[in-house]
Amino acid sequence: MRILITGVDGQLGSQLVKNQQPNLEVIGLNKNQFNLLNFEQCRKTILNLKPEWIINTAAFTAVDKAEIELKKTFDINAFGVEVIAKTCSSYGGRLLQISTDFVFDGMKKTPYLPHDKCNPLNKYGESKLKGEYLSLKYPGNLILRTSWLYGPSGNNFCLKMLNLHKNAFKQSKILKIVHDQKGCPSDTIQLAKICWELIKKETDTKSKQKIFHWSNKGITTWYDFAFSIGKFAEEYGLIEKAADIQPISSSDYKTLAKRPNFSALDCNQTSRFLGIKQLEWTESLKLILKEYSEIKRKL
Ligand SMILES: NC(=O)c1ccc[n+]([C@@H]2O[C@H](COP(=O)([O-])OP(=O)(O)OC[C@H]3O[C@@H](n4cnc5c(N)ncnc54)[C@H](OP(=O)(O)O)[C@@H]3O)[C@@H](O)[C@H]2O)c1
Repeated sequence: MRILITGVDGQLGSQLVKNQQPNLEVIGLNKNQFNLLNFEQCRKTILNLKPEWIINTAAFTAVDKAEIELKKTFDINAFGVEVIAKTCSSYGGRLLQISTDFVFDGMKKTPYLPHDKCNPLNKYGESKLKGEYLSLKYPGNLILRTSWLYGPSGNNFCLKMLNLHKNAFKQSKILKIVHDQKGCPSDTIQLAKICWELIKKETDTKSKQKIFHWSNKGITTWYDFAFSIGKFAEEYGLIEKAADIQPISSSDYKTLAKRPNFSALDCNQTSRFLGIKQLEWTESLKLILKEYSEIKRKL
């Protein structure tokens, strides 16, 4: 079975390539080779390769910039996605489209189910939701939503926080981190595994379910996440000492894009469907930090 992965220089794309499964022919393309702003290039590439599945990890993920760069955001996250969905469905191929917790408005008090009402608060969320609708217009396509994605490489909160801890401690500065946005981190290693398992399972037995959720287990805040990153990084010798952190509210940390105050995803249906248990977010953080130190050691 041939699988095309887009956005292979990104966090999830690179992890999917790293975690390649035996007996699958995996073709990974980066932004130069498969640019979602170049619809014709995407269409031709897909028709040329005719993969059975496409995992679209490519996206415009700069949430604040998306408020300003509207056309680019919607072209990449919605209309480009439709090009993939439509083209692969023309020969019976299928799309696994990666989406986000930011399709929700955060007004719920319990974790979001796949069919809960969507009401994005920002342009990034709007564009990703449109990408979902446009994918599901074509038969066989699936949506996998995730939240607070991070891994041992790439641009993410955990690695940024590691640096901040390092520098803030040296300069005796206090970090200020938002404590009133709740959700759950998702590590790329577990998420890549879920993508592969979902494709295998769906190829054998098409389920009625079209939208899946996956994150690590538990609910936390950015403040707790930042605190734990410092604590474990110190334990593993990745930093000399964790910096002090002061919890602040979202209203004291102004950003262009509004973010939901609560965006934990209920992943029970996915967990049951695949027979895979979620990993507690603290355990997953330890694994990612170990993997990060291993990568650093090899450099
Ligand atoms: N990161 C999160 O916290 C988070 C949370 C929930 C859901 N998600 C979703 O999960 C998926 C994977 O996220 P990620 O964190 O792995 O993202 P990422 O690290 O930002 O990777 C996305 C990749 O897409 C590429 N890209 C940008 N514009 C493109 C274009 N026009 N054509 C083709 N590729 C383009 C990027 O290249 P450049 O970097 O060179 O622009 C990058 O390599 C995305 O669909 C995202 O929306 C992410």
